[in-house]
Amino acid sequence: GLDISRLHSETGYITLDPGYANTGSCTSAITYIDGEKGILRYRGIDIAELCEKSTFMEVCYLLIYGELPTAEQYTKFKDKVLFHSLIHEDMKSFFTSYPGHAHPMAILSAMVCSLSVYHPELLKPDQLPHERDQTITRLLSKVRVLAAFAYKRSVGEAFVYSRPELDYLSNFLHMMFTTPVKLYEPDEVTRKALDVLFILHADHEQNCSTSTVRMVGSSKANLFASISAGICALWGPLHGGANQAVIEMLEAIAADGGNYKKYIDRAKDKNDPFRLMGFGHRVYKNYDPRAQIIKKHCDEVLNKLGIHDPILEIAKRIEEVALTDPYFIERKLYPNVDFYSGILYRAMKIPTNMFTVMFALGRLPGWIAHWKEMVEEPGMRIARPRQIYIGEQQRPYKPMHER
Ligand code: ACO
Repeated sequence: GLDISRLHSETGYITLDPGYANTGSCTSAITYIDGEKGILRYRGIDIAELCEKSTFMEVCYLLIYGELPTAEQYTKFKDKVLFHSLIHEDMKSFFTSYPGHAHPMAILSAMVCSLSVYHPELLKPDQLPHERDQTITRLLSKVRVLAAFAYKRSVGEAFVYSRPELDYLSNFLHMMFTTPVKLYEPDEVTRKALDVLFILHADHEQNCSTSTVRMVGSSKANLFASISAGICALWGPLHGGANQAVIEMLEAIAADGGNYKKYIDRAKDKNDPFRLMGFGHRVYKNYDPRAQIIKKHCDEVLNKLGIHDPILEIAKRIEEVALTDPYFIERKLYPNVDFYSGILYRAMKIPTNMFTVMFALGRLPGWIAHWKEMVEEPGMRIARPRQIYIGEQQRPYKPMHER
């Protein structure tokens, strides 16, 4: 019903692209995706190779600084990240002010933004490179503490501080799972699985949360504020929140006698708003390469940990049926990264409401890399999309008694 010629005469030529399906918002040298072929590369290196040979810490460096680190650069980077793992003691009272049932994503986004209050020296809109690096390493380190404290708050346990002898991920697991009566024993199978999951989550070019970080950062808002906004964007069930939604869906199917076909039928019914969570992707029109790697790890990790999880079987059945169903074939709907990641998190005893927080911890280096790439770009402009106005034309104000 739009009168396009009238709109052009009134607004000039504006591209209308709802959901930005075909609009590039920037140039970027960080991540390459070929959605048709199912390829994902960070700084040119294939994701499968990184999962096999690298670590999450090294991938953080690669994404943020553009190259794999030398041994010296890596040691320096790791040491800086480990060193800054304390948060201001006053911040502990923030956590206890939230109700116990508060969603940890709400707490995480608020706490990341609150870091800005305790680091006024890191808020300059035009930071020098070494100031930017200080901000980045502090954020990378402290976010694990904030996430672990949010979890401890939700289960009513005492906060646990990091241990300097542990690596980045083992330290996070220690802060999550150590209690006053039981010290967390670093477990190599869990740590390696977490490494792989975080590498797979680390970046995915201009997705909703990364675009949000860029959008907010383009106003020269500080890094803490920009990342806090990204965390909020990730929370939604159509984005990072899907990993929680997938497990809830699989648990509901298990409780419903394992009748997964009923749910597939519901997903195909256009009168039912239900969607098969963990299926479909804006960019991948082929199997999501991240889902392929996670699926393989699910079998391995569950075997090694001696866990038999019936919902893994349900997930595999759903995949089998959906991949041969014309509805899913025609729309090129394949499992995405979230379809199997929750099953791995469950095997690691991470509670369901922490799944999206885990995604945020993994995605953090990607958000930072995009923010850094943007603010370092000469001539950066504030992000400010246009619109096509379809509301009322000019009309007089009508007094209340005449309405
Ligand atoms: N179940 C059933 N039908 C689906 C699904 C699904 N999971 N996903 C898409 N479709 C259908 C749509 O109904 C639409 O059908 P139509 O052409 O008959 O109207 C068609 O496939 C295209 O879907 P769109 O919504 O236009 O695709 P879009 O690119 O906008 O959305 C998205 C992508 C949000 C991921 C979508 O596939 C979805 O909602 N999936 C479920 C949620 C999910 O798993 N999100 C995680 C994404 S990965 C991530 O963020 C890490």
